[in-house]
Amino acid sequence: MSPSKEAWGSRMGVILAVAGSAVGLGNFLRFPGLAAQYGGGAFMIAYFTALLLIGIPIGWAEWTMGRSGGVRGYHSAPGIFHVVMQSPAGKYLGLLGFIIPVMVYMYYVYVEAWCLGYAYLAATGRLAAGANFGGIFAAYTGLAQDGSAVHFGLESVGLWLVLCYALNFFFIYRGISKGIELACKWGMPLLILIALIILGRVLTLGTPDPLKPDQNVLNGLGFMWNPKEVWAGLKNAEMWLAASGQIFFTLTVGFGAICCYASYLKKKDDVVLSALTAAAANEFCEVGLGGLITVPAAFVFLGTAGIVGMGTFGLGFNVLPAVFAQMPYGNFFAFGFFALLFLAAVTSSLSMLQPGVAFMEEGLGLARKPALALLGIVTAFGSMICWWFSKDLKALDTIDFWVGNVMIYLQGFILILVFSWSKGMGIERGWREAHEGAAVRIPRIFKFIMKWVSPVFLSIVLLMFVLSNVFGWNFSFADPRFAPTGRITDLVGDKHSDVARLTVAFVIVGLGFSALLMHLAGKRWTANPPEKQT
Ligand code: TRP
Repeated sequence: MSPSKEAWGSRMGVILAVAGSAVGLGNFLRFPGLAAQYGGGAFMIAYFTALLLIGIPIGWAEWTMGRSGGVRGYHSAPGIFHVVMQSPAGKYLGLLGFIIPVMVYMYYVYVEAWCLGYAYLAATGRLAAGANFGGIFAAYTGLAQDGSAVHFGLESVGLWLVLCYALNFFFIYRGISKGIELACKWGMPLLILIALIILGRVLTLGTPDPLKPDQNVLNGLGFMWNPKEVWAGLKNAEMWLAASGQIFFTLTVGFGAICCYASYLKKKDDVVLSALTAAAANEFCEVGLGGLITVPAAFVFLGTAGIVGMGTFGLGFNVLPAVFAQMPYGNFFAFGFFALLFLAAVTSSLSMLQPGVAFMEEGLGLARKPALALLGIVTAFGSMICWWFSKDLKALDTIDFWVGNVMIYLQGFILILVFSWSKGMGIERGWREAHEGAAVRIPRIFKFIMKWVSPVFLSIVLLMFVLSNVFGWNFSFADPRFAPTGRITDLVGDKHSDVARLTVAFVIVGLGFSALLMHLAGKRWTANPPEKQT
């Protein structure tokens, strides 16, 4: 059976798979961290604006393009862009849709292994009251010194990392329906069940310490959600960047994963309602579950001091274990929390591997086993970089910034331009295709949004992003100042970090190498187009 004959088993299956890809560490760690950092209310306005102007519309565009490419025999972003645009440039425009998932996988799976390892620590009572949580976190992740996280005992990350690799590749090997769909069908409901139990616990915490009456659940929710200086907040450009970036990351929209998943649909399968349902499921898990658990729980036991400045990972792996340890049956809830994180992470990381495998199969003509072997070697190399260069999580952080933020933006931007403006697709045809077999109609206004608003919004945000996060512009016109941020000083100048340089070099080599692969794939596709094969 050729790989192009693979398909989802059911409509519910594909929705759960896309929802599984969307619901991940981004929902339970990244989102609460960002919302708390930018003061709740104002952030949520920017967040929902981005959801409406880029998240949902680009999602529809990506589902539509994916199905369209899949029907014509392509399953990876480069292949799909190639056939949808009917242009040899397509494969290069889709290049990031190959490399982003692969590179994000390298560090994401590493954090996934922490989750599994921490679930084990919780289950065996290592995270009980009195433990040195900060110390455990630092030792586990190797924060203090490069190489110090490389151990293989049950109480360090090595074994769990190997196990996570085995699990992920096992499910991908089993294929779309018997692997990914199966994992998500069981994983997603279980994840939501655990999250509801933990949420119930957090919301009934009341005021655990009568001596600190302010630290109660209501104030915890208030800390997260009460609008503080909304107007001043909305004028903060950096917050818009963070909110838009979060929308892309959390929905998995715009960078090749949904394209790939949707390419296993049939010509008349609905995309409009499915895309909306998957996005809604993600928002439920993000705002309704992730947003109500992490920060309020930390606030109730530790107050503001427990939250501010802890960073995304610190909040999850350092603060929360301390919080659970103060509850009755704390081990149970801590175990639940890390099991929940782990489930969310696996169903996401599967969507990082499948696009890579799909490209190697169709672009390089590899069979599934060699494709998986190659992908395994490449990603393992990247994971080892993150694992070894663990001081301040520098390698992980550097890849996350350049690939997980910058490239994701770029690819989302390219995707909506291709959908709305390219000769092969264009908004008229795109709109018509989206509605083929659709269970509901998209409100007309979105035609305008997809054509004009999303690209304009994205270019503004992208421009601000580069100006502030890279060159350190203070957003003042009256008194403009530029102070290159750590992202740049890490790379050039005498304060540079060798690890950051090495990591960026690795990313650049990856880009060059992928360009070469695109070239080879292009030759293959012109010589023997899959769309003409059946
Ligand atoms: N959406 C996931 C989260 O919120 C992240 C994710 C899933 C992702 N698949 C991806 C990121 C592919 C990059 C590439 O955690």
